[in-house]
Amino acid sequence: MAEAPFEPMLIAFCCNWCSYTGADLAGTSRLSYPPNVRIIRVMCSGMVHPNLVMDALTHGADGVVICGCHPGDCHYLEGNLRAEKRKEAIDLMLGDFGLEPERFRLAWVSAAEGARFAEVMREMTEAVRALGPSPYRGQAGPGGAGGGDAAGREAAPGPGRDFAGRRLFRDARTYADAAEAARARTEYEQAGFEVQELAEGDGIRLFTRRAAGGPAPGGSVT
Ligand code: FES
Repeated sequence: MAEAPFEPMLIAFCCNWCSYTGADLAGTSRLSYPPNVRIIRVMCSGMVHPNLVMDALTHGADGVVICGCHPGDCHYLEGNLRAEKRKEAIDLMLGDFGLEPERFRLAWVSAAEGARFAEVMREMTEAVRALGPSPYRGQAGPGGAGGGDAAGREAAPGPGRDFAGRRLFRDARTYADAAEAARARTEYEQAGFEVQELAEGDGIRLFTRRAAGGPAPGGSVT
């Protein structure tokens, strides 16, 4: 039987005061956007911690969008500026997890911008569809239980490598020497990851995966 084409699963965190209303307007205006998006309503874009984004991306989501009020319109004054600051941390964490930057987007959508909401969701769906499934698909979940996608397929290979039958994922950096790799290894292990090292080219690469039952990824980023 022919395999169904990949359909990404996206999470959109939408602030209550602007973007969620914008999403609502898209619906009531009958503006079409892909059904791949699961909306989570939050009071403000600034309350979405980077760990929530990484948890979504390592537990089944292929892409995450945070939507908030335009700068200057946040109902908590500076929440969206905080979200913008957190984006920098999220971008770094994506690299550490071996995930492409296009899997995350921060977008401003006002209550009157139903069409913009639909457009952002269409663009994000297309971008993530082109990337393929998150390499964490089918691997994460509580206790490391697998999931696959809605069509029941196994996880895509992704930037990973098997160590004794368990797939770990390459982080974004190349470490120049053993001491540098050891420091990074310690940080990962303290954050609840299992780690393997591999000499590659001119340096050392680390392959990591959150240990079953370990703490949430991301350490103490605020
Ligand atoms: S209330 Fe919308 S971003 Fe803060």
